[in-house]
Amino acid sequence: MKFTTQKTYFPVSDQIAGQPIQAPQLGKSEPQWRNGYGTVSDGQDTNSQNQPTRKLTKTATSIIIYFSRSGSTELLASKIAQQTGADILELVVQAPYAGNYQRTLARANSERENQVYPELKLQVPDLSQYKMVYLGYPIWAMTLAHPMTAFLDTYGSRLTNKQIAPFMTEGGYGPGDSVQRIQQLLRGQGATNNPFTQALVVDGNKVSGLMSALASGLSRSINEGYIYNR
Ligand SMILES: Cc1cc2nc3c(=O)[nH]c(=O)nc-3n(C[C@H](O)[C@H](O)[C@H](O)COP(=O)(O)O)c2cc1C
Repeated sequence: MKFTTQKTYFPVSDQIAGQPIQAPQLGKSEPQWRNGYGTVSDGQDTNSQNQPTRKLTKTATSIIIYFSRSGSTELLASKIAQQTGADILELVVQAPYAGNYQRTLARANSERENQVYPELKLQVPDLSQYKMVYLGYPIWAMTLAHPMTAFLDTYGSRLTNKQIAPFMTEGGYGPGDSVQRIQQLLRGQGATNNPFTQALVVDGNKVSGLMSALASGLSRSINEGYIYNR
């Protein structure tokens, strides 16, 4: 008989496409949360226990494309998936960000200063069936987390003629210029005809609370355009 030992790093808060979501910062009080400062991760961008999320069907007309280092954005993605039935594609990088916050910050700062964004490690499927693309990311230095920048900078032209629904988690300082940055990157890649819904912006420690508060209201806000929720 073969035994496998599974190391559980953090409590499981939900599932995405049948796999556990671990987000250590969920539910932290404001003094503990410190605007996300110091948030650890599993050192594999949520995938120490999982395969990167990939739910691709032949029939869905919307897809959630997201990156998450410490699980909050992944949890938000899972809730949107439950409400919409959208397909899901997780962005994965060749070299995951460190579990340690300071090391992640140092790397992210250096990537930004040098404008060298991480190499992605995934096969992007044919996106032609989708009319709506939910783009999910954490805010880093008041803009898009770099894996999403890398995705848009490489595959942006494939989003032509699609509605874009940005959603993000952040430490408490809001969306920064992330939505304008998406628009800029899409334009730079030659993508055209991209109507945007209002962005969904949620504090990273409050994703679970937000969900129970909104309950059925979430589907309405998703279908009618996002709310800015703080
Ligand atoms: C490198 C780095 C930079 C960050 N910069 C900001 C910031 O400028 N403003 C902010 O509100 N939160 C910032 N945060 C906090 C994250 O946006 C927040 O913790 C988010 O919920 C993380 O999402 P995730 O769990 O999906 O990775 C930063 C986090 C990291 C790791």
